[in-house]
Amino acid sequence: MSQQVEVALPDGRAYPILLGDGLLGSPALLEPFAGTQALVVTNTAVARLHLGKLRASLSSTEQVDVVEIGDGEPFKTLDTYAAILDELIAKRHNRTTTVVAFGGGVVGDVAGFAAATYQRGVGLVQIPTTLLALVDSSVGGKTAVNHASGKNLIGAFHQPRAVIADVALLATLPEREFRAGLAEVIKYGVIADAAFLAWLESHIEVLLERKPLPLVHAVRRSCEIKAEVVADDEREQGRRAILNFGHTFGHAIEAVTGYDQVLHGEAVAVGMIMAMDLSQRLGRSTTDAADRVRRLVERAGLPTAMTVDPAAMLDAMGMDKKVVDGRIRLVVCDGIGQVTVTSDAPPETIRAAIAGGR
Ligand code: NAD
Ligand code: GLY
Repeated sequence: MSQQVEVALPDGRAYPILLGDGLLGSPALLEPFAGTQALVVTNTAVARLHLGKLRASLSSTEQVDVVEIGDGEPFKTLDTYAAILDELIAKRHNRTTTVVAFGGGVVGDVAGFAAATYQRGVGLVQIPTTLLALVDSSVGGKTAVNHASGKNLIGAFHQPRAVIADVALLATLPEREFRAGLAEVIKYGVIADAAFLAWLESHIEVLLERKPLPLVHAVRRSCEIKAEVVADDEREQGRRAILNFGHTFGHAIEAVTGYDQVLHGEAVAVGMIMAMDLSQRLGRSTTDAADRVRRLVERAGLPTAMTVDPAAMLDAMGMDKKVVDGRIRLVVCDGIGQVTVTSDAPPETIRAAIAGGR
């Protein structure tokens, strides 16, 4: 049985996140969201494991084409995007087609960008298959590809018609990827819900065992928080930036390590430790709060430190989209469950926080 979380956007653009354990495979699942044509974008690993179930759920769609893209971040490119558009054009998809993004955040972001731009925008359904994509990238409408100069530099906002969040798909996810997704789950507790962080502290072991009930709860609470923030500030004019807690540091870690050493969630885990350290140095948050986040990140099997050059990190942070008027905008913690976006952190304090997390 599925649960539902609503992303309450205006102008008829509200959409459901259907959540459960074992949703995919049910024949009528996609009928309300896909018409007569659909293009499934996935990758080889996900296709081999799960495409059969998706096909079963698309049984009422007359034309179903599939594009399998390369695996991982190196394929979140304009070339992959162009290959998806080529397929849409070659198979004569019209303006009523639906792009079905079936994979992790890489597939979701590049397929979403193709859906945002093909014939000025066509329908999109996100079916995330990694924990990170279930709790973060599939919800909220950010789509993008990378450029040689930086991550996500080319993209668009394009909200899906629905998100199908089936935790059963996580059974095959490699352990390291699963743990990386937990970083984003922990983030939601830190930024918006102290009770959820406490729940995570008492359920982290069962989550690591991927027990369906706690997993559905963790995904649901994460999606509820993200949905509420996105509905409040869809285009990141203000409050949505709180979702970037730990991410400005994290993106810089990814940049200085060349995007191939560290998973996004691992970089975010270390980024959150640096952000907690910074919050403490700015007198906003307590040692106790920072210790709790560090312990939980550790228990999730995630890194809490990384060998990075603070000068290179600061430089990389200067390339980040979150820089306004030469000041780095950062999300700082005012106590578990509460965060603020500030441009007031002096560069030397940021440098000290980076050095603390090395
Ligand atoms: P990913 O998409 O590369 O997937 C990770 C790996 O898991 C891949 O090798 C993939 O083949 C494999 N995989 C996926 N599902 C599987 C399954 N069910 N079983 C077995 N293997 C499976 O990485 P990710 O962590 O999901 O996403 C990272 C990307 O998401 C980054 O590019 C990041 O920028 C983006 N992102 C976007 C947003 C947004 O709001 N749009 C938010 C956060 C992250
Ligand atoms: N992952 C940050 C956001 O969706 O805004």
